[in-house]
Amino acid sequence: MTTATSTTPSTAIETVRLRSVSKVYGSAAGTVTALDAMTVSFLAGTFTAVMGPSGSGKSTLLHCAAGLDRPTGGEVTIDGTELGPLDETALTLLRRERIGFVFQSFNLVSALTAEQNVALPLRLAGIRPRDAEVRAALAEVGLAQRAGHRPGELSGGERQRVAIARALITRPAVLFADEPTGALDSAASREVLRLLRDLTDHRGQTVIMVTHDPVAASRADRVLLLADGRVVDEFTAGAPAGEDRSGGSGGGPGPAPAERGLSPELIAARMAVLEASC
Ligand SMILES: Nc1ncnc2c1ncn2[C@@H]1O[C@H](COP(=O)(O)OP(=O)(O)OP(=O)(O)O)[C@@H](O)[C@H]1O
Ligand SMILES: [Mg+2]
Repeated sequence: MTTATSTTPSTAIETVRLRSVSKVYGSAAGTVTALDAMTVSFLAGTFTAVMGPSGSGKSTLLHCAAGLDRPTGGEVTIDGTELGPLDETALTLLRRERIGFVFQSFNLVSALTAEQNVALPLRLAGIRPRDAEVRAALAEVGLAQRAGHRPGELSGGERQRVAIARALITRPAVLFADEPTGALDSAASREVLRLLRDLTDHRGQTVIMVTHDPVAASRADRVLLLADGRVVDEFTAGAPAGEDRSGGSGGGPGPAPAERGLSPELIAARMAVLEASC
């Protein structure tokens, strides 16, 4: 197994960069190192899947990278802005403008319609949402006809697509998704993954997704495997498993997953090796 640290081509834009980021939780029972001096970059216009055993630090990585949580050490930079020096107000503003976050449990407001949910981040930012803009965001996730429906009137897959439209309405630099298909059946999962893939391929959106599912991960350009708060393996589309081609290929339309070489079987095999060694 290789220990991967990210080096990137000098021309590539690092939308998200973590330098030696640590997160240590302390309690009466002792301390837990959720992130252990992690250094990793995510290039603009790439789709990365983050995998690893339960408790390996995947959600902590996303929360620290997205400014939802403060690391105990190291440096996080989003779209050129270092998060550490920002006070809570500035961090909230940066999150609203530059970051989209999608959760396993959708986190929609049940009393609001799909279009009201999608418009919410703009309202919170004090921007009056334009109807056409909100409708276009819903159309982009294939839900133009469901704008007036509340979450309770939508399927799980449709709810997640509303959540993705809501995350994208501010045109964020990066979309984080923590197990976005974890609560969905396989047909709805496929639909959500197709959407995330299209966002990268056709809009140049940077996407970072945590998943336990090798099929979901196979849609990404790059897979990071975590264990004990560290990146312990990494492979990229087109590279055989274990061959470290950190940093991705820089975005734009890419070949189909099968041509890229990220097969679910290969990913599952690497996960099995990792879990056996944990
Ligand atoms: N608020 C907290 N207080 C104390 N320990 C925490 C806290 N949040 C997470 N941890 C610990 O940090 C480690 C990493 O947790 P994290 O939630 O990032 O794991 P994960 O890889 O997302 O796991 P899963 O696949 O189960 O979602 C775990 O040991 C967890 O118990
Ligand atoms: Mg988690």
